[in-house]
Amino acid sequence: MDKILVTGSAGQLGTELIQKLCEVYGSEAIIASDINHNAAKKFPFCSFIALDVMDQVSLKKVILSENVTQVYHLAAVLSASAEQKPRMAWDLNMDSLLILLELAKELKLDKIFWPSSIAVFGKESPKENTGQNAVQTPNTVYGISKSAGEKWCDYYYQHHQVDVRSIRFPGLIGYKAKPGGGTTDYAVDIFHKALSGESFESFLKKDTRLPMMYMPDAIQATLDLMEAPKEHITVRSSYNLAAMSFTPEEIYLELKEYFPDFNINYVPDYRQEIAANWPQSINDLQARKDWNWQSKFDLPQMTKDIIINLPNWLNKI
Ligand code: SER
Repeated sequence: MDKILVTGSAGQLGTELIQKLCEVYGSEAIIASDINHNAAKKFPFCSFIALDVMDQVSLKKVILSENVTQVYHLAAVLSASAEQKPRMAWDLNMDSLLILLELAKELKLDKIFWPSSIAVFGKESPKENTGQNAVQTPNTVYGISKSAGEKWCDYYYQHHQVDVRSIRFPGLIGYKAKPGGGTTDYAVDIFHKALSGESFESFLKKDTRLPMMYMPDAIQATLDLMEAPKEHITVRSSYNLAAMSFTPEEIYLELKEYFPDFNINYVPDYRQEIAANWPQSINDLQARKDWNWQSKFDLPQMTKDIIINLPNWLNKI
């Protein structure tokens, strides 16, 4: 039987992924974990363990005592936060992955999921239709940690047969958790401002185009990749994945259709520099070929869905 441990469960991806994993595998098969004890109240429907992913001894103990067969390792510091605390972010993002890959090898875990990011790309990478094997010149601590992490995943697969699978996510947009220190998180925050009748101050310039994805697509992709037959997985670093691309101005105009009085002003800060070096669009042909990836949501569909659902979630996040 599958027993799935999720680290960093209280984050944006974890919050929604755990709900879906419980639906698909049954609540008794899922253990949510997070360094924050208070996160337990987010997951009344499955087990929760307070866990620091840097604590190798405790992590091993949980895996053994709970008979864990798969780990979804989501705990990480995102791009904007990482630039504020570079050394701490590097240690957490890198060491926790290495701890887990070692445990996966030693304890012969069935599968590992680890998210990478478009942040692996940088100034020298092509901006448009950035390919699976495009040159990686990350210039953020987060991007460097994801780029190195991808290589470690591939290494543990090649040398130790650890079945680790990964996706290079674009900016993820969901309404079930608070934004968590990412450069693309402006596109989450803007919905909260529009709904509360406040104006929005964008820390990116109006024409900064970035690849983005609505959370239900990201969750579906994660499940599809993890369920794909092993022999179909040809990429053991991380798969490019795409859904939509837009600028702050474009999402603002989309929201203005629903909230005609909504205002935006642009006050770019250090995050503009991060975004300026990332791709504007991604080529995800390999994921389409290997495990039939196809996105469902574009900007208008996502906007409509969030506006309908967010008001019911405001008191839960
Ligand atoms: N969404 C992430 C961030 O902005 C990138 O993967 O940090």
